[in-house]
Amino acid sequence: MQYIEVAGVRVSKIGLGCWQFGSREWGYGQAYADDEAIRITNKALDLGINLIDTAEIYGFGQSERIVGRAIASRRDDAFVATKIWPLMPIAPVVVDRGRRSARRLNLDTIDLYQVHQANPFVPDAPTMEGMRQLQRDGVIRHVGVSNYSLDRWKRAEEALGSPVVSNQIEYSLAQRRPDQDLVPFAATNDRLIIAYSPLAQGFLAAKYDVTNQPGGIRLTNPLFLDVNLSRGHDLLNTLRSVATTQGATPAQVALAWVVRRRNVVAIPGASSVDQLVRNADAAELDLTDDEDAQLTAASDRFRPLTGLAAAPAWFRSRLTPPARRP
Ligand SMILES: NC(=O)c1ccc[n+]([C@@H]2O[C@H](COP(=O)([O-])OP(=O)(O)OC[C@H]3O[C@@H](n4cnc5c(N)ncnc54)[C@H](OP(=O)(O)O)[C@@H]3O)[C@@H](O)[C@H]2O)c1
Repeated sequence: MQYIEVAGVRVSKIGLGCWQFGSREWGYGQAYADDEAIRITNKALDLGINLIDTAEIYGFGQSERIVGRAIASRRDDAFVATKIWPLMPIAPVVVDRGRRSARRLNLDTIDLYQVHQANPFVPDAPTMEGMRQLQRDGVIRHVGVSNYSLDRWKRAEEALGSPVVSNQIEYSLAQRRPDQDLVPFAATNDRLIIAYSPLAQGFLAAKYDVTNQPGGIRLTNPLFLDVNLSRGHDLLNTLRSVATTQGATPAQVALAWVVRRRNVVAIPGASSVDQLVRNADAAELDLTDDEDAQLTAASDRFRPLTGLAAAPAWFRSRLTPPARRP
């Protein structure tokens, strides 16, 4: 496994995303929550993955409990990151919720405590006051944010009065907006980008098509609409072609592209131990500059239908079975 050290934090380039653990919306079932998730986490630690990412909202605490069970006997192998959902993020609430997360995780100290997203009505000062108290009391070690704009990240840091070490954001070959400011900022300011949905929820694994689409939460992801699966051909074929040259899979190439960016790590979720092992191996893939450029260019050409423009296609796809669609 490869590691990076940024802002005093040492994390594996490939981490493990745990939204899938105990969350109904992924539809992986009880056996996954009870057994496979524990096996996935243990195998991750065996392979040197230390960054384990969860949140209080995932499965309404279930994901944190599963992570807590999985790492109980090997706490020192893990760098545990969790998140507060910013409902009423004033200092006493933040302190209470941080302590509750630590209890569910069975930890004295959470390594990284992140604000899940910016609250549009409450500024960061009261939230960061709570974060400072949690740090003083030893309940959390580092503070991070998630889904923050660059401006709001800087303001959060001013409010904390010390580094907000990371911003967890959606970043992949299918979501390149962070290249405009967040990724360059982190690269030049000793800050960490934690890339979530680095496989675009499986889209970049190049295994889904019009006749084989995922269910659950991914029914709401416009990338899996027929129109976008078809617009994605060029990008997915580029991934397949680089994968063939590298003796890897498209998913591994997609992850390798993400973590090739300076100060960026990726936290793919996994539906099986086998996937986890392959994702960990992606840290060792050495893409050439030319392969990187080919992938970046294919990603630049990819223009998925999103937002309101995707609504008619979304309704059509939900109302018409695949066999009867044009
Ligand atoms: N901060 C935030 O707002 C936020 C938002 C979203 C996610 N996250 C975090 O980021 C993590 C990852 O994001 P995500 O789960 O949305 O998306 P992702 O990591 O891009 O996709 C995960 C899914 O891709 C498929 N997959 C994984 N490895 C694969 C492989 N090697 N080959 C083929 N398919 C593979 C699996 O689904 P199938 O096998 O079922 O296809 C898996 O559940 C989450 O667990 C969570 O911790 C944070």
